[in-house]
Amino acid sequence: MPRPLRVAVIGYGFMGKAHSNAYANVNHYFPEVPFRIERQVLCGRDATKAQAFADDWGYAGVASDWREVVARDDVDLVDICVPNNLHEAIATAAAEAGKWVVTEKPLAMSVAEGERMVAAVEQAGVPNMVWYNYRRVPAISLAKAMVDEGRLGRAYHYRAQFLQDWTIAEDLPQGGAALWRLDAAAAGSGVTGDLLAHNIDTAMWLNGPITRVMAETETFVKERLHQETGKVAPVGIDDACLFMCRFANGSLGLFESTRYARGHKALKTLELNGADGSVRFDLHDPQYLDFFEYRSKETGDKTAGHLNGWRRIHVTNHEHPYMSHWWVPGLTVGYEATFVHALADFLAGAEDKTFKGPTFRDALDTQKVCEAVLRSAETGKWEATGLG
Ligand SMILES: NC(=O)c1ccc[n+]([C@@H]2O[C@H](COP(=O)([O-])OP(=O)(O)OC[C@H]3O[C@@H](n4cnc5c(N)ncnc54)[C@H](O)[C@@H]3O)[C@@H](O)[C@H]2O)c1
Repeated sequence: MPRPLRVAVIGYGFMGKAHSNAYANVNHYFPEVPFRIERQVLCGRDATKAQAFADDWGYAGVASDWREVVARDDVDLVDICVPNNLHEAIATAAAEAGKWVVTEKPLAMSVAEGERMVAAVEQAGVPNMVWYNYRRVPAISLAKAMVDEGRLGRAYHYRAQFLQDWTIAEDLPQGGAALWRLDAAAAGSGVTGDLLAHNIDTAMWLNGPITRVMAETETFVKERLHQETGKVAPVGIDDACLFMCRFANGSLGLFESTRYARGHKALKTLELNGADGSVRFDLHDPQYLDFFEYRSKETGDKTAGHLNGWRRIHVTNHEHPYMSHWWVPGLTVGYEATFVHALADFLAGAEDKTFKGPTFRDALDTQKVCEAVLRSAETGKWEATGLG
């Protein structure tokens, strides 16, 4: 019989909604998880909006101050869905109060903050997770299974992109509601922490640690009106970032992210090339994984030359990750399912410590790569990440 787990969600924006959907649905699609989610408290500063959101998503109550929420006896898990500059304070207070803690990415504003957060959850001994949800796209989880099965052989190249175009307008303000991502004081960094962090997390999950990086960043629009102060202020975030890197396994990596790629809304791709095969993924076609098999793992034979080519796997069979929990083969799931999957995995492995991550400690590795990338863009030199 699943036991109740009383959840408090801090923030009712984009991620507050994605996570609320996961809390509302995880027990329907993953009935085997050992906890029954109770949506206990929704925390937001605007009482009217918080109440409306709580009513919509079935929360028992609302609160306006996260400090009060983390201190409550009737909350077991605190979920952080607010801008990056609030992650550390909420996570450490929640851990010290003995709550399970899950936070949105990036873990922190800096490695130093991230280290304090890891120390807090590990000293308190509380289950923890960072919502790097793209690992849980079924096609990306399938890529991981294929790497682990040894189907790609020795890795040579990894490349990834995350391209958007929503900040091109020069009169777009920075700071405050919806635009905190453009304000370095709230976001920490620009595309590096916001978008590349996802690519880096997935890359290291599939291909192991990144040991050194060489980066270039650009801030195309140097000043923007700040919504909260009403004054024009310098823009402190990176609008675009390119970096090359080396993985501990000897392979080479190439990453690109920008919010200035006119026409692209969320072009998120990855490709891993090994001696025996390659995999390729594009978020615009999330139900597919492309696979090129040069040599069969089962027989050791090369694919016959006249049959050589990319294979498009429609990742909807019951044999594919997560898919037996949804519909019949051939039918697809969407973006929101990745959060349901992350939550199901976390709930299944939180208590017996079989959860495979990303934990705060795993996400600290991504933070180290992000920080080395930004350092390299400053120094113009290769920078070590300290990993591997
Ligand atoms: N995993 C992903 O794919 C993904 C996608 C988007 C955002 N994120 C991350 O999620 C976090 C939130 O981003 P978002 O897009 O949901 O932002 P958002 O702007 O849509 O929502 C932020 C919410 O935080 C609230 N908030 C701000 N300060 C607060 C405070 N002191 N107390 C309580 N609430 C407060 C705001 O009112 C708002 O409800 C960020 O860390 C971001 O990097 C992750």
